[in-house]
Amino acid sequence: MAKPLNISLIGSGMYATEVILPSLYQLQREKLVGKIGVSSLNIKNVDKLSKNQLLKEAFPSQTIDKYASTKDSISALEPNQLVIIAIPDHLHYEIIIEALNAIENRILKNGLP
Ligand SMILES: NC(=O)c1ccc[n+]([C@@H]2O[C@H](COP(=O)([O-])OP(=O)(O)OC[C@H]3O[C@@H](n4cnc5c(N)ncnc54)[C@H](O)[C@@H]3O)[C@@H](O)[C@H]2O)c1
Repeated sequence: MAKPLNISLIGSGMYATEVILPSLYQLQREKLVGKIGVSSLNIKNVDKLSKNQLLKEAFPSQTIDKYASTKDSISALEPNQLVIIAIPDHLHYEIIIEALNAIENRILKNGLP
């Protein structure tokens, strides 16, 4: 079986709460997803997501790793993992560039995976 994929989820708003995180938790249950790191504009939003009552009831033993910044969350990923962007559309470019820069920095430091 393939190694579970670690995730960096950027954004903890409505779509992350109601669609993306429940899907990731289900995939984690099926051992397809490993760690789920979450960052947002404000760490308080991430805290709120981690305490969401419906998610706690549906997935009682599962948790997220909270990150204070998107940079920290993306940088924590090993090569060939996944970044999911769930923030307003006009801000996607900035985060995609951040993710690509993190990959480039890692390649410059460690060589190609
Ligand atoms: N709501 C939907 O039905 C839906 C459907 C399909 C796709 N999407 C996608 O999801 C995105 C978010 O939708 P939503 O309804 O969750 O919005 P939302 O306003 O509820 O949440 C936005 C989240 O983005 C975070 N955020 C904003 N700027 C940020 C930044 N610079 N860095 C990090 N985090 C930042 C906010 O803190 C918040 O957690 C949409 O723009 C779209 O791309 C939404």
